[in-house]
Formats: sequence, C-alpha cells, structure tokens
Amino acid sequence: MHIVNTDQAEAWNGPEAANWAARTDRDDPVNGALTETLLDAAAIEPGDRVLDIGCGTGDTTRRAASRAAPGRVLGVDLSALMLDRARVAASTAGLHNVEFAQGDVQVYPFPGNGFDVAISQFGVMFFAEPVAAFRNVHYALRPGGRLAFVCPRAMTENAWYVAPMSALYGRHDPGRRNTGRRDPDRLPDSAMFSLADPDRLTNVLSRAGFTDVQPRPVDAPMAFGADVHEAAQGFLGSGPVLAVLQQPDGPSLEEAREILVDVVRPYEGPDGVRIPGASWLVTAHRP
Ligand SMILES: C[S@@+](CC[C@H](N)C(=O)[O-])C[C@H]1O[C@@H](n2cnc3c(N)ncnc32)[C@H](O)[C@@H]1O
Repeated sequence: MHIVNTDQAEAWNGPEAANWAARTDRDDPVNGALTETLLDAAAIEPGDRVLDIGCGTGDTTRRAASRAAPGRVLGVDLSALMLDRARVAASTAGLHNVEFAQGDVQVYPFPGNGFDVAISQFGVMFFAEPVAAFRNVHYALRPGGRLAFVCPRAMTENAWYVAPMSALYGRHDPGRRNTGRRDPDRLPDSAMFSLADPDRLTNVLSRAGFTDVQPRPVDAPMAFGADVHEAAQGFLGSGPVLAVLQQPDGPSLEEAREILVDVVRPYEGPDGVRIPGASWLVTAHRP
C-alpha cells in the first residue's frame, strides 16, 4: 500500500480512530445533520458508481449505496480500524453493492473514468498536497462526473472547535482557571481548516482540473453525545485535544475533562450536546 500522508495514517490508525468510530457509530452521529444534505447535493442516481473519500466507519458510504443501487460504492480510508467497522456495518445492513479499501486517496491507484460521483464528509482537508490529491480524484471520475463534499469553514466560525480549544489553551490565565480563553487567532493551526478559505478551495480544485466549483455555506449543529460527560469524553480522544494533552505544560487528563465539561454545558439540551458547526458544501464537475 502506497501512503504519502504518513502523519495522517498514523493519527487515524491510533487512538483517534477508536474515538472517531465511537462518535460516528452512535445513533446520533456527530455530523449526522449534514449527511443527507451532502448526498442530495451529489445527486446520486440508481446505477451510479460512487467513490466515498475518507469514508471512516462508512455511514455516508452505506447511505450512498442505498441511493446508487444497483450501482456500486467504494469507500477509501487510511484507517484500518474504521474500515473494519464499516465492513461489519455494511454486511449487517445486507448491502451487497459496497466495498471498502484501505489507502491514501492522494495516491490510490483508482481506475481511470471509474466513477460517476465522488463524495466526502470531512475527509478531504488532511491532504499534504491537496492539488495532487484532487487531481487523483479527478482522474478517477468519468468526464462529466460530479464531486460533492463538506469541509469546515473558518475556525472562528466553528464554536465546536474554538470553545474547547481556547479554554484548554487559556487555562493558565491568572485567576481565571476554567474560564480563561485564548484568542482564537493564537490557537495552533489545524489541518481541519485547510480548505476554509473559499478562494483557496476554488483555486485548489481548479488547478486539479475541476470546473463549476461552488462552495455554499451550510450551518448545521454537530452532535457531541447524550450529555456533557459523553461530549467531554469525545473531545478528549480527538486529535486536537490529544495534541494539547501531549504538550509539556498541557493539562492533565482530569483537568482537561473538567474544563471540557464546563465548556460544553451551555450547549446541553433535551437532545443532548449540540454545538454549532459552519461548513462549506462544495460541488464541482470533471469537464
Ligand atoms: C473527520 S474523519 C471523517 C470520516 C467520515 N467521512 C465521517 O463523516 O464520519 C476524516 C477521515 O478521513 C480519512 N483520511 C484523511 N486523510 C486521508 C487520505 N489521504 N486518504 C484516505 N483517507 C483519509 C481519515 O482516516 C478519517 O477517517
């Protein structure tokens, strides 16, 4: 298997994978409010051949398979653990038109003209060389094929990221423990927001050969669990929080848990913990 995004492969085959799997296996998956909007934008028709980029545990892949049948859907992801879950779930659902493959989408040996549609739910922001990666997706699509994905807008628009991270990084503010906040401009860069700038996003896709690139803003709450404790646990296993915990002056696990419970409490309601998320829904074509 040829992997060029080795840091990502390591991250998504480590502790983050089990954590993400737990967040997406719930009846109320973390990004569930966006999935049908994404699939509608992809306009999948019966018989379509669909590629799901960074499919994770395969919820989008399974839903796409229902829409595409008798067409086939391939989910590709770096994470062996998440793909195991995806395969079990597809087989339990009795889907026979789904396959999963472990690989790096940036260099995966796709068949040329092999797909009518490529979709991704938050699986396209982590490429070290995004133009090369999208060029590979472009190669995999047939002429006239469609690309539809969701990715985060700017960090400052995404409370689910800024609220916990600014609290964790701001905890040393004198006399303001647990309420200290770091200015979002001083938070470390995260690959998560690499496509947040719509001009950059359009430029990357155009250089990869796509046309009709349309980023549309979509606001949808993200579901972080039934209560503040489940939500805090989910954050504790996420990549950005793991990175804070590993810093020499980072908080202890229990200190971080306490901070996170406080951070998510204002977002707890009858449906569990819901924090606003700001995304781009992007559509484009291979000419
Ligand atoms: C935020 S998760 C989203 C997973 C899934 N699409 C969902 O909505 O639950 C990002 C996923 O992208 C995958 N990923 C990141 N870079 C990738 C690459 N270069 N090739 C294949 N998968 C990649 C990760 O392994 C991870 O499963």
